[in-house]
Amino acid sequence: MEKNLRTLRTATFVMISLFCLGPHDAFGNQENASEQSIESVQKKPEIIIKITCGCKALQLKLCQQAAEEWEKITGNRVEIITLPNESNERLNLFLQLFRSKSRDVDIFLVDVTWPGVLANYLIDLRKHFKEKEISEFYEVIINNNTVRGRLVAIPWYVDIGIFYYRKDLLKKYGHKIPTTWDELEVVAADIQNKERQNGNSRMWGYVFQGKSYEGLTVNAMEWFFSVGGSVTGPNGESIIDVEPNRTMLERVHEWIGSIVPSGVLGYTEEEARGVFQSGNAVFMRNWPYALALLNAPDCHLAGKVEATSLPAGTGAGSGHVGTLGGWSLGVSKFSQHQREAVAFVRFLTSYKEQKRRAIEGGISPTRHALYKDEELLTKQPFFAKLSNMLGNIVLRPAVQFGHLYNQASAEIFNSVHSMLAGNRPIDSALKQLHERLSLLLKKVGKQSRECFDGQD
Ligand code: GLC
Repeated sequence: MEKNLRTLRTATFVMISLFCLGPHDAFGNQENASEQSIESVQKKPEIIIKITCGCKALQLKLCQQAAEEWEKITGNRVEIITLPNESNERLNLFLQLFRSKSRDVDIFLVDVTWPGVLANYLIDLRKHFKEKEISEFYEVIINNNTVRGRLVAIPWYVDIGIFYYRKDLLKKYGHKIPTTWDELEVVAADIQNKERQNGNSRMWGYVFQGKSYEGLTVNAMEWFFSVGGSVTGPNGESIIDVEPNRTMLERVHEWIGSIVPSGVLGYTEEEARGVFQSGNAVFMRNWPYALALLNAPDCHLAGKVEATSLPAGTGAGSGHVGTLGGWSLGVSKFSQHQREAVAFVRFLTSYKEQKRRAIEGGISPTRHALYKDEELLTKQPFFAKLSNMLGNIVLRPAVQFGHLYNQASAEIFNSVHSMLAGNRPIDSALKQLHERLSLLLKKVGKQSRECFDGQD
């Protein structure tokens, strides 16, 4: 176990310096430690709650502020452990910790697709939260976080894939917001070419998340469902090798190098935002967090960017969809301070704290009442639009693949990446992907029965 603890410490230290942009206090540092007075050391509260927080944009800062507030109220201490940006990398780290029964982290950030993967390692929060409290959160996420009747994480913030556009450029060249992929191709190409002629040689039409990681699975879901495709059928079987999916992948492949930079195959959310925020893309697919940053007073794009639903196909079953994302908070069953950890989760997911995060960081709440909160809607009017978009979500196949979801997603993103990069013909790659997903689906039922012990 000690070996694994060291692994976490080393990993966290490296990850903080590599991935996180903001300040951090994960394990303190020499300077701060030497500044601590003897008095403050003597008064050090006994209980230290260790929590993993995101490090994208304002996430870390907001988490630190909340931790300080909670420390003041309770006299407990909080240590924030920051993480790599990519969801699947986080999961690998967490699984390492859980498998070694590590007590090094009390509260875990849980991606919307992980409840089935992590259920055995997290306590049942239904034993600590009243039904009334639970009913204040979006039911779809509560259901998602409930595995075999156990509520393994409380929803903290919600994500949905949205379509960002430069309204100044649409106006300049006399275009409407594209609502279909066909329109997107025409408008993106036109503005890109005209902007290049006008001197911005680095301008591209569209950017999204094309790196081989969880974010590409997310994008692929949106492509498939927007044109009437799918990944799994009504009986939980793989139906990924269908015509709409194939045609859409061929279309996206064609975009690369024409209206989308080839670098997109290495983009996560932050690289896509970087290109868009530098003024070098007309349209972008991203999560809502980017809106507040793009419209911040010190951003040169402030007032020029808006967001709406992603474009749709035009054939049967097409529609405007966004993949559901978001993060919840779960308490480790190996935590030595479960009571305090639950109390901190309750504090972080409270109405007041979620409202503060929404106002100060544009982070989307998981409590339905907040989408009707007048003060919030006045300060962040986009949330009114977002609550309508939440009616058109697409779910990644987390329920179908259960504890094998991360393997299924890796199959999807690796395969889609090789298709988009032109490394493999789309036809045969999709067939092989279908076979691999089918094999995983066969394994799911058997192994989930073997793994589950249901104990807190
Ligand atoms: C965001 C979403 C999360 C998703 C990840 C993919 O963090 O909230 O659900 O898995 O992006 O990059």
